[in-house]
Amino acid sequence: MADELKRGLEGVLVAESDLSYVDGEVGKLVYRGYDIEDLARGASYEEVLYLLWHGSLPTADELDAFAADLAAERDVDDDVIETVRALADAGERPMAALRTATSMLSAYDPESDESDEEATLRQGRRITAKIPTVLAAFERVRQGEEPVAPDPDLSHAGNFLYMLAGTEPDAVSEETFDMALTLHADHGLNASTFTAMVIGSTMADVYSGVTGGIGALSGPLHGGANQDVMEVLHEIDASSKDPVQWVKDTREDGGRIPGFGHRVYKVKDPRAKILEEKLRDLAESSGDTKWLDYTTAIEEYLTDQGLVEKGIAPNVDFYSGSVYDSLGIPVDMYTPIFAMSRAGGWIAHVAEYQADNRLIRPRARYTGPEDAEFVPLDER
Ligand code: CMC
Repeated sequence: MADELKRGLEGVLVAESDLSYVDGEVGKLVYRGYDIEDLARGASYEEVLYLLWHGSLPTADELDAFAADLAAERDVDDDVIETVRALADAGERPMAALRTATSMLSAYDPESDESDEEATLRQGRRITAKIPTVLAAFERVRQGEEPVAPDPDLSHAGNFLYMLAGTEPDAVSEETFDMALTLHADHGLNASTFTAMVIGSTMADVYSGVTGGIGALSGPLHGGANQDVMEVLHEIDASSKDPVQWVKDTREDGGRIPGFGHRVYKVKDPRAKILEEKLRDLAESSGDTKWLDYTTAIEEYLTDQGLVEKGIAPNVDFYSGSVYDSLGIPVDMYTPIFAMSRAGGWIAHVAEYQADNRLIRPRARYTGPEDAEFVPLDER
């Protein structure tokens, strides 16, 4: 049994965690026991961060102090902004730019070499506060604009939208974006969280863990899918193709439909349900139903084809892009936004794991040759 191979670590338990639970059979997600629906509708991203990092929902006073401490850490050093400019000038992709800049942030953290639970959470607060500043600066510079300094009086979600656009967001945009952040904050031991934990299990600092998490999240099988979904919707729009025809053609070519399928969910992802509802509200109030029409048509078709019943159902990425589009966020910023939220979960998992640490070190079944006879270089 010890030698049983589980490709992709599917279903393998590697740790205990109080942080989040995904029931893939019924489509349920909880953070520390609280249903994601209740949190998405009733709690701010700051409340969710507090819950994940400190174990309980904050009181009003605790939240005020926590949010103020977080907001006070938003500024980043000018050198980081200069690096962000250089990355934008070089045409770097946003996730790669975020990975580089997050790694650089540690240079300005006086305790970045510490990795006990408390230090991890203090560093984590700085990282979480600064990632939006880095991302918004990257986007502004890319657009030929100057970065906008963070406003400590705005919420985490509101401040990001403000730094991106240069004007304060309206209440609906801020609330929508805050909900999206809450929905993406944690999700069990997904690939990027596990990456951060593996790094943390060496007792490396949490900057390393978050930087690794960003790398893992960037792939199209993980966080990159939200961008892929939106690109598909744009492609359909530009070609005037029927969305269903696009799906048929893609499946005939053996391609996958981005935003569908999940390693854990065998039914529709609860986060997708919430975002779909949000998209519906936004489409109704703006009168622009294009993305809603396309996504609905694709989901209906794949449901009729029996794919959803087979467990290849819409995941969180299927609807998030359309919601971000309504907020005027550029397509290639969707995955960085996922990282901006999920950083909170990575930090929580690293701190939790390090509190009772055991180095993560699995094995591979060796399938290479045995007893190869060594031939010195000059005789080969
Ligand atoms: N479209 C069409 N067929 C699919 C899809 C899809 N999106 N996803 C899975 N399948 C099929 C796959 O072809 C395979 O069929 P068969 O057994 O006939 O070969 C079967 O479903 C099982 O697929 P798998 O790749 O073995 O399953 P997995 O658990 O390794 O993959 C996944 C999970 C998310 C990588 C996969 O569903 C996928 O590639 N989806 C598209 C990308 C995507 O939306 N990713 C976001 C995931 S959710 C957000 C996040 O956590 O980051």
